Amino acid sequence: RGVCGHYRSVLQICSFVSPHTHILQKEDDTICYGFFFQSKSWQKLKTMVHWSPFVVSFKKRYPWVQLAGHAGNFQAGENGHLLKRYCECEQQCLQKLMQDNLCRYVPGYYGVVQKDGQDYNLMEDLLAEFDSPSIMDCKMGSRTYLEEELIKARERPRLRKDMYEKMVAVDPGAPTEEERAQQGVLKPRYMQWRETLSSTATLGFRIEGIKKADGTCNTNFKKTKHREQVMQALEDFVDGNTEILEIYLLQLKELRSALEQSHFFRTHEVVGSSLLFVHDTSGKARVWMIDFGKTVSLPDPQTLDHRSPWVEGNREDGYLWGLDNLIDIFSSMLPQTS
Ligand SMILES: Nc1ncnc2c1ncn2[C@@H]1O[C@H](COP(=O)(O)OP(=O)(O)O)[C@@H](O)[C@H]1O
Ligand SMILES: [Mg+2]
Repeated sequence: RGVCGHYRSVLQICSFVSPHTHILQKEDDTICYGFFFQSKSWQKLKTMVHWSPFVVSFKKRYPWVQLAGHAGNFQAGENGHLLKRYCECEQQCLQKLMQDNLCRYVPGYYGVVQKDGQDYNLMEDLLAEFDSPSIMDCKMGSRTYLEEELIKARERPRLRKDMYEKMVAVDPGAPTEEERAQQGVLKPRYMQWRETLSSTATLGFRIEGIKKADGTCNTNFKKTKHREQVMQALEDFVDGNTEILEIYLLQLKELRSALEQSHFFRTHEVVGSSLLFVHDTSGKARVWMIDFGKTVSLPDPQTLDHRSPWVEGNREDGYLWGLDNLIDIFSSMLPQTS
C-alpha cells in the first residue's frame, strides 16, 4: 500500500490546495506528477511533503474495470474507492458483513454517498493494489434467481420479448412452439434455461468474465458448461502459472472454512453473488466475495447448509456445493503430490 497509497493521498491534498496539478505521461509506462503551485499553497504543502522528491514517478495503475453486471452501475471513486449504485439489500448485507468473520473476504464498506443526485454504496476498489491485474468473475450457486422472484413471476406472468430474443440469439432451437408464437418467454423460464446452458446447474458456479493483464477480455462464457471447458478457461486465466493456482486454491479453502463458520452465511440465501479473482505478474493473488444485490436474510430460525439440492421452498442456493466443485477443479489442475 505504502508508496502508491501515500502519493494518492498527496494527490488528493494537491487537488484540494491547488488546481495547478499537472500529470505528465512518460513513454516508459510511468506517470510523473509534477506539482506547480502558487507559492502560498506550495509553502503549506511543502511542509507536508518535505521529505518527498518534487517530481515522483511510479508505475501507472491499471484503470478500474467492470467485468460483468449492469453497465452504468459503477463510478470510479478516489483513493482506491469505488461507487456502486445504491441497493438497500446490498447495503444491509455489506453492513452486516463488516461485523462477520467473512469481512476479510468482502470489499471494505464505507457507507452511502451521493453523487449528482444519485445514492451509491461506497466500497473498496479491489483492483487498487494490483499492477495490471488479471480478473475473473465467477458467479456462485446452482440458481441465480431468488425464490421470491419465482413467486412474483408466477403471480403476474409477464412475457419478456427481450429475453426471448436473447434466447434465440444463443440457441434458435431453444424456444418452445408456444414461446415462438408469443415471441416472448417468462423470466423464470429464461433464467432456468440459461442455467442449463452454463455450468451453474451442473457445477454450482459459472464464469461470468475474464480480463487478462494483456488486455484481452472474454465475457462469452454463456455456454461454458462442462468441467473440461471450465478447466480450459481457468488454465488460460492463470496462463498456466501453477503458483498462482496454488494461492487461489489455498484461499478458496480458507474461504470455505470461513463460510462454514459464518453466522451471516448460515442465515442468508446467497444468490447471484460472485467470487472475484485477482492476480498480477508480481505473483500476488486474492479472492473476494462481491455483489450482494440478491442476498436476502432468512426468517428466524431458518438456516441453510448451501449444499443440499434446491427444492422449491427450501431456499438452498448451492453456494458451497459450487465452491466444493471449484476447489476440486483447481486441485485437479495442479500436479498431484501423493
Ligand atoms: N469492490 C470491487 N472492486 C473491484 N471491482 C469490482 C468491485 N465490485 C465489482 N467490481 C467489478 O464490477 C463487476 C460487476 O460487479 P457486481 O457487484 O457483480 O455488479 P452487478 O450488481 O451489476 O452485477 C465485477 O465483475 C467486477 O469486475
Ligand atoms: Mg454481479
